[in-house]
Amino acid sequence: MNKRGKGAVLITGASRGLGRAMAMEIAARGYSVWAGVRTSEAGSEIEAEAQRRSLVVRTVTLDVTDDGSVKAACQAIQASEGSLYGLVNNAGMTGRAFFEDYPEDVIRRIFEVNLFGVMRVTRHALPLIRANQGGRIVNISSIGGRIGSNSVTPYVASKFGLEGFSESLALELHPFGIRVSVVSPGIIRTDIWKESSRILPQARNPDSPYHQYFWRMEPYAEKLLDSSRLTPEDVARKVAEVLGHRRPALRYVVGRRAALVAFLRKHLPDRLFDAVYFGQIRRLMMETGKGR
Ligand SMILES: NC(=O)c1ccc[n+]([C@@H]2O[C@H](COP(=O)([O-])OP(=O)(O)OC[C@H]3O[C@@H](n4cnc5c(N)ncnc54)[C@H](OP(=O)(O)O)[C@@H]3O)[C@@H](O)[C@H]2O)c1
Repeated sequence: MNKRGKGAVLITGASRGLGRAMAMEIAARGYSVWAGVRTSEAGSEIEAEAQRRSLVVRTVTLDVTDDGSVKAACQAIQASEGSLYGLVNNAGMTGRAFFEDYPEDVIRRIFEVNLFGVMRVTRHALPLIRANQGGRIVNISSIGGRIGSNSVTPYVASKFGLEGFSESLALELHPFGIRVSVVSPGIIRTDIWKESSRILPQARNPDSPYHQYFWRMEPYAEKLLDSSRLTPEDVARKVAEVLGHRRPALRYVVGRRAALVAFLRKHLPDRLFDAVYFGQIRRLMMETGKGR
């Protein structure tokens, strides 16, 4: 426990986007924050931002796909804190293309970060959380962890996997007073959506049988992004709230639009949801129009 009586919290993928906002918010609430980053430049930037806000955020080098890096990060936290109260598995990535256009190595990379990375960090962090005699694990999923979506098929598959992993882990950790929650944000414009990094070269190939459908759907994804009012800070506040909750729930959705879609998915019969929600997407995909 730190001076203000709250424990240490490790956040993966804290260099930018949602993770960085979480680091600031959780530090502001008095936890001892360890921000996982992959480069020392990112680490210096975060520490400087924290300083500007009169906060303390410590950074630790952490690549969730590298066992040695995860182990070393946990050892550094153990040496300094003795134990860990919270783990926020936030690091994530995607590509954009229709499934058949994804190369095998990109699919595997997405799973390595979004699912196996979460499992790896969790496995190494658990002895530290048990040493704290209880704590919280918050896994950052997505509305795509509950509902399918075109162009991000491997991402969605990895997040569906994350949901099942979290639900099962929650049962196993119950006896130890460790609560597992899944936070699923709606769409937010961050670097994960940057065209240069997300659209795969294969999706630009005019010979792909999916080319015209992919490019017909991209403007709708852009529209969704542009019209989203959700911010990284909204997600950060929810995660901080979950960490501090005495009896956190298993699942949280952040964002009104995402909450509405999740509600419909939960309460409508499958065929009706399919007709209303996926039917609209199918119609847009079949509209005649120009691809790129
Ligand atoms: N933005 C959205 O619309 C949205 C919606 C729902 C859920 N989410 C989820 O929110 C989480 C954060 O996304 P974001 O929008 O903040 O994306 P982002 O801005 O692209 O940030 C992704 C973070 O993950 C880190 N990362 C990637 N690969 C890593 C690895 N191998 N090891 C450690 N860290 C790694 C990145 O670090 P580097 O800087 O080193 O690359 C970066 O800090 C993800 O799990 C994502 O699926 C996002």
